[in-house]
Amino acid sequence: MENRPLEYDYTVAKMFMLTTIVLGIVGMTIGVFIAFELAFPGLNTILGSGLAEYTNFSRLRPLHTDSVAFGFTVSGIFATWFYVGQRVLKVSMAESKFLMFVGKLQFWLYVIGVAAAVVTLFMGYTTSKEYAEFEWPIDIAIVIVWVLWGVSIFGLIGIRREKSLYISIWYYIATFLGVAMLYLFNNMEVPTMLATSPAGETNIGDWLHSISMYAGTNDALVQWWYGHNAVAFVFTVPIVAMIYYFLPKESGQAIYSYKLSLLSFWGLMFVYLWAGGHHLLFSTVPDWMQTMGSVFSVVLILPSWGSAINMLLTMKGEWQQVAASPLIKFMILASTFYMFSTLEGPIQAIKSVNAIAHFTDWIVGHVHDGTLGWVGFMIIAALYHMAPRVFKRELYSKSLMAAQFWIQTLGIVLYFTSMWIAGITQGMMWRAHDEFGNLAYSFIDTVDVLHPYYALRGTGGLLYLVGFFMFAYNIYKTMTAGRRVEESELQNASPMGA
Ligand code: HEM
Ligand code: HEM
Repeated sequence: MENRPLEYDYTVAKMFMLTTIVLGIVGMTIGVFIAFELAFPGLNTILGSGLAEYTNFSRLRPLHTDSVAFGFTVSGIFATWFYVGQRVLKVSMAESKFLMFVGKLQFWLYVIGVAAAVVTLFMGYTTSKEYAEFEWPIDIAIVIVWVLWGVSIFGLIGIRREKSLYISIWYYIATFLGVAMLYLFNNMEVPTMLATSPAGETNIGDWLHSISMYAGTNDALVQWWYGHNAVAFVFTVPIVAMIYYFLPKESGQAIYSYKLSLLSFWGLMFVYLWAGGHHLLFSTVPDWMQTMGSVFSVVLILPSWGSAINMLLTMKGEWQQVAASPLIKFMILASTFYMFSTLEGPIQAIKSVNAIAHFTDWIVGHVHDGTLGWVGFMIIAALYHMAPRVFKRELYSKSLMAAQFWIQTLGIVLYFTSMWIAGITQGMMWRAHDEFGNLAYSFIDTVDVLHPYYALRGTGGLLYLVGFFMFAYNIYKTMTAGRRVEESELQNASPMGA
């Protein structure tokens, strides 16, 4: 039994691969559109002023952020879990009818939740808390989806054949626990319909409306404890889980150091949770908390670089593979962008730097070198690795993948360089003053100066989106027209065996 290769069941993994791609396209298309809206404001009323409510920047922005974070990224996390989990635990989902049922239920509830979120955000129903915009019924659906995922994780662990838990599993468990804790606390809210009963006329808006249980500075603190740790437990920890599995598998190299992987794991867990104060520098939050946020942010370089260096050193002596394989290029550039954004973030968290950077496009640049370079590239690489194995077909086109890599890389470079220049220009112009202390520029002067950079960012984003369509097409063709192969034929000399 032990030595017979297991037939893994990828039904749920495939379902989530689909939502990763579809929601990626939706989220990034909106991203490109709002990027061009900032450059060419006329686009706000593209469908006429009567419909401007639905097409303006502020209505679409949360649709972008939520669909890329909770759509594209979270689907990617689920898709890879339902693939990686079985393989490293050496147990097939097909062995448990219950776990199969829970996995499918999780998928369908997730799809219903996403549909409800898109519709309500489009209609303008929002709690107005960034990354926590959903109204309470959707929050409840999200909690149920999350609990179901927990049942899958611990259920599979419970019936595993492999005794030791590979490091990726640690990271997936941490994702589950971290998001559960953050989401519950930050979304504590009171539906107003329950508190007051307006005489007779209730509409859907009244029914959905709620108010946060926190107020003022406390609300800000909880919100950024959540917001920052959403970066930790959605954009970092599960992505590290992926790279720890897929890079060794794809390259056939053992991880450089297991000790370093554990050290970085506990380092991340301990340090991340205290760094959120860097979002609230120069605010009403007590000064010591702000300083603590800055200090922990700088310390955060260590565990972050620990994981990234571990990945780069995994390729030690095998660098020719990076030149030869576009898939490995995606992963190596992902770790490089991870190092890049986790150096940039701590720099922005230093109070004197934050005084210039806060509220400017430099922050938006930081966000996107992390999300496009690290999160996006790693999820793309993971799905490219999985596709031939779950569909049992050879990848449709390696050269298309290589072209995609270069187009998207160019897109990211245009995105973050334009935002660096725009952000620093903005920050400097806002604070410039003459010898009498009068501001040297009015706000509209800064808006004028930024126009070319916004156009450049839109172009960079468009390139990234074009690359994403190439990815979707490559996966679709692999699924439908790739040459049939057995997994044993695919290059797979991993020391991990799974
Ligand atoms: C096609 C590529 C993309 C384009 C063109 C794009 C564009 C934009 C724009 C224009 C904004 C608003 C910036 C502002 O308010 O000034 C934004 C915000 C944001 N985007 Fe994207 N985006 C893209 C892809 C992504 C992806 C893949 C992710 C995550 C996986 C992401 C995550 C975010 C986040 C978290 C914010 C909020 C940033 C903040 O508040 O500072 N974006 N994006
Ligand atoms: C060592 C790790 C990191 C540190 C210390 C850090 C630090 C920071 C700082 C100081 C800000 C700006 C706060 C402000 O003035 O508004 C920020 C914003 C942000 N960072 Fe990072 N960062 C790190 C890594 C990352 C990574 C890897 C990603 C994504 C993959 C990321 C995503 C974001 C997002 C989405 C925001 C914008 C939040 C908002 O205003 O909506 N960060 N980060």
